[in-house]
This record gives sequence, C-alpha cells and structure tokens, in this order.
Amino acid sequence: MIEVNNVTKYFRTGFFGIKKNAVANLSLLIEKGKVTGFFGPNGAGKSTTIKMIVGLIKPSKGSIKINGYDSTDHRSRHKMGFLPENPGFPRGLKAAEVMNYYANILGIKSRTGNIERVLKLTGIHYAKDLQIHKYSKGMTQRLALSVSLLGDPEILILDEPLSGLDPIGRKEFKDIIIDLKKLKKTIFFSSHILADSKQICDKIALIVKGRLLKDENVSLMQIDADKFYQDIDKTADTEYKDALEEYLYNLMLKNK
Ligand SMILES: Nc1ncnc2c1ncn2[C@@H]1O[C@H](COP(=O)(O)OP(=O)(O)OP(=O)(O)O)[C@@H](O)[C@H]1O
Ligand SMILES: [Mg+2]
Repeated sequence: MIEVNNVTKYFRTGFFGIKKNAVANLSLLIEKGKVTGFFGPNGAGKSTTIKMIVGLIKPSKGSIKINGYDSTDHRSRHKMGFLPENPGFPRGLKAAEVMNYYANILGIKSRTGNIERVLKLTGIHYAKDLQIHKYSKGMTQRLALSVSLLGDPEILILDEPLSGLDPIGRKEFKDIIIDLKKLKKTIFFSSHILADSKQICDKIALIVKGRLLKDENVSLMQIDADKFYQDIDKTADTEYKDALEEYLYNLMLKNK
C-alpha cells in the first residue's frame, strides 16, 4: 500500500526564485493489489507526484509511505518497478544487453530466464538482438516496461505507459496491465486520457494544477467518463486539451 499524506512540492522559478506549487496538499491511497489510474492534463503534477513516490525527488511538505517505509528510504523501493515518463537507453546496446545490465544492478538471480519471460510478456522478445537506437517509440516503451518488470515487483509505478503507442499497442499494453492485475500487483499509472480507466482501473484519481479532484471507484466514475466522451466528441482535436481541462475543472467545482 502507498500512502501519500498531504504532500506539497514546490519548485523555485525565475530570477527571484519564487515558489511555485507543482503539487499541493495531495493525499492519496494506492491500495495493494489494485490498479489506480492517475489522470490530468499537461502540467497537472502527475510526473512530480510519481517522482516523489519513487524517491527521485523529496516532498517539500508531507510524506509518502510505501509498505510502511518513507519514500526517502531505499527500502521503500525494494519491491517496486518504475517506468519513467521519457525512457532512454544508451545508444548501440541491444535490448538483451540493456536487460542484462539492469538485472545485474538489481541483483537478479537466474537472469536469462527472467529476462526472456519479461520480454515475451511485453511483446518485444522478437527484437531483443536489435540495437535500441533502431527501435521505434512504441518498441522503446515496451522495453522500458520490460525493465520495470524485472525481478517481478509487487508494485508498479508507470508514468504514461500508453504514450506513443498505436491503438493496437495501447490495447496490448492494457491487456498486460490486466494480466498483472490478475497477479495482484499494485499498479499506479498516469495518463492524459480518462478512457484508459475503462476496463483496467479499480480506482482513479484526477489531478489538475497540482490538486486532486477525486479518488473514486471506477463504477462511480464510469458515468463521468461517458459524459467526458460526449463532450470531447463535439470538440475538434486541437481543442482537446482545453476541453479536458474544462471538464476536469467542472468536476472539481462539482465536488467542492
Ligand atoms: N524541476 C522543475 N522545476 C520547475 N518546475 C517544475 C519542475 N518539474 C515540474 N515543474 C512544474 O510543475 C508542474 C507539474 O509538472 P509535471 O511534470 O508534474 O506535470 P505532468 O502532469 O506530469 O504533465 P505532463 O502530462 O505534461 O507529463 C508544471 O507546471 C511544471 O512546469
Ligand atoms: Mg508527466
């Protein structure tokens, strides 16, 4: 279980170093064995929250506990896999070499078996001997997911796992998440697209301008997701972001 307790994160910006909240007073419970989706527009604070959960940055205020350990304590990450927002790998290496490298760092025994299993699960096994700089965005995303799955972690923190994937890739990734859900993994993933909550999430959380809007059961949220689609269907692509933001704001006002 992950408890985000009243967390604020500010960054100092500009010449005068003025504090700007990226995340404000955020409390969230990510339950064990469940899939929680974390949705919000660009700049909402999703990646900042995720970076705090995985211990890359510290909260300015508040605390995060993972299975009882503070996020600043390395023990909090022992059973955790992480897919970063923009995964990158050294040029020239092949996927199998990258996997071997990470498996080595993680101290994974019986590396070959573990790597083969994970690469098959993410559907990138066929390209394991291809150099990474020849990978497409979707292939890189699959490799990054493979890395996060090494060592069979109990908790998976995925920052936009579906970004850059084509519709088939999105469906396949969702199926992987559904399979991991059956294995009772605790999964927390971010996305811009509320529709990603359909089928896969047990819970969702919505964040806009650093503030949480709602943390609810999907069954309750489903109605809102449908309404969202009705609204978005009327909107041209270029206005997509504005429509999403407006929708989330309306939700926030409703839930005040
Ligand atoms: N290192 C930093 N220094 C200053 N400001 C930052 C820093 N990191 C994030 N921010 C600001 O914090 C806010 C939240 O950013 P964050 O990356 O968490 O958003 P996000 O929800 O992940 O957006 P996206 O959907 O575009 O990935 C933004 O206004 C961003 O400019
Ligand atoms: Mg982000």
